[in-house]
Amino acid sequence: MKKTFPENFLWGGATAANQYEGGYKEGGRGLATSDFITNGSAERPRKITIQLKDGTKKMVNRRPTGNPKVDTIPEGASGYIDENIYYPSHNAVDFYHHYEEDIALFGEMGFKCFRLSLSWSRIFPKGGIDGEEPNEEGLKFYEDVFKECKKYNIEPLVTLYHFETPAYLAEHFNGWGGRETIDCFLRMCKEVFTRYKDLVKYWITINEINVLNGYAFMGTREADSEVRYQAKHHMFVASALANKLCHEINPDAKIGCMVALSCIYPKDCKPENVFGALDYRRGALIYSDVMMRGYYPSYADRLFEEMGATIKKQPGDDEIIKANPSDFLSFSYYRSSVYHTEIVQNTDTGGQMGDANPFVEKTEWGWAIDPIGLRYTLSELYDRYQKPLFIVENGMGTIDKQDKNGYVEDDYRIQYFRDHIAEMKKAVTLDGVDLMGYTPWGCIDLVSAGTGEMKKRYGFIYVDLDDEGNGTLKRTKKKSFDWFKKVIATNGEDLSL
Ligand code: BG6
Repeated sequence: MKKTFPENFLWGGATAANQYEGGYKEGGRGLATSDFITNGSAERPRKITIQLKDGTKKMVNRRPTGNPKVDTIPEGASGYIDENIYYPSHNAVDFYHHYEEDIALFGEMGFKCFRLSLSWSRIFPKGGIDGEEPNEEGLKFYEDVFKECKKYNIEPLVTLYHFETPAYLAEHFNGWGGRETIDCFLRMCKEVFTRYKDLVKYWITINEINVLNGYAFMGTREADSEVRYQAKHHMFVASALANKLCHEINPDAKIGCMVALSCIYPKDCKPENVFGALDYRRGALIYSDVMMRGYYPSYADRLFEEMGATIKKQPGDDEIIKANPSDFLSFSYYRSSVYHTEIVQNTDTGGQMGDANPFVEKTEWGWAIDPIGLRYTLSELYDRYQKPLFIVENGMGTIDKQDKNGYVEDDYRIQYFRDHIAEMKKAVTLDGVDLMGYTPWGCIDLVSAGTGEMKKRYGFIYVDLDDEGNGTLKRTKKKSFDWFKKVIATNGEDLSL
């Protein structure tokens, strides 16, 4: 039995370009679907601003409603930017101009690893269409970022696709709905695997593949099951081919998949609820099953039939997926929820949602706080795959109040992490889970993906910016900063306040 975390355990933090980087018009970057998403709140859903072929401008829901009539973006429409609207991803919290300062703070906390995503349209403004040259300024930006990480012995963990599609690919190929996007993605992968061969060892292909749907997340005009699951099949093929490329270019690199796997419990021991919970969970596990095992699981056909989707495969697709499984499974874990037969099935950032669990507390945004659920999930996944796992998102979004010196006493956050790390440790030491690392989400405050708000804060570092984009962007350490620094310094031994 292991006594503690492995020596080389990758403690760190996680971010994504569309919520953190900013600089949307700088350095030759092309537009991405995330650039057209307005801000919102828990009550006011985010919208996408589009322009129809005839020039009419309108707003559509960012999160599909399930009604194809409302959700479908007409052919020929494209995203447009309304100068009078605030789009949080445009400047986000401006990592683009603050990367040296931010990475120095991560270094001070003792990070071993920093998760960030590439803005695809910064590397290839049109997404890497046939004959397109990569954007040197974009490539250089990430090279500088990775070199900065090396100064502090921080391993970059790089997500290749996180919630943004180059707008050009959305317009011309229906995003991931079109097979052409697979080739474009692979051109981008080849470019970055080669260019950063000596700087990046850890890669993730597609963030939270299970929650993706519609224009905002996949660049598709439609959000119905047919297009959604066809696009996912394209992503499976693209992911497998990216794994292959990565290993060919750098045999020492590790490349993983990423699924939102916040856990689901049955409401009670009523057999329909117990089996129902297992089957509902398959809606998320199907993704890791395909990418970790290399084939569609036995329940897949029935699941697709129930959802009204038929997957069109090309000859050779199954063989590609089979030959190139992921090296590790990375996942987000935020909360648990409860399944029963009357549940309204839906997904959100962070994964499947069910009903509230009366036995656990909730955050201000209604996400259940359930540390034991993390041990449960780690055990569930390791029992299933017997391959390394990586927790690449975990944390609580809260309203943080600064005192007159700008300091935030976020004891609630420390408590959340303390309890989750304690359970994670049990999974490693008592259950024998092979866990590569732990990168809490939004280690520095950034824009919420779900609501577009800034006030839903996750970080160890406070960033002065409000929900309308006002603020100095000043970075200030919160109380949890020093606490997490101590946790890392003791390799998870000292969790005391
Ligand atoms: C995950 C995403 O869904 O959850 C992140 O990978 C996201 O991009 C995170 O930010 C937390 O969700 P939210 O809505 O609180 O930002």
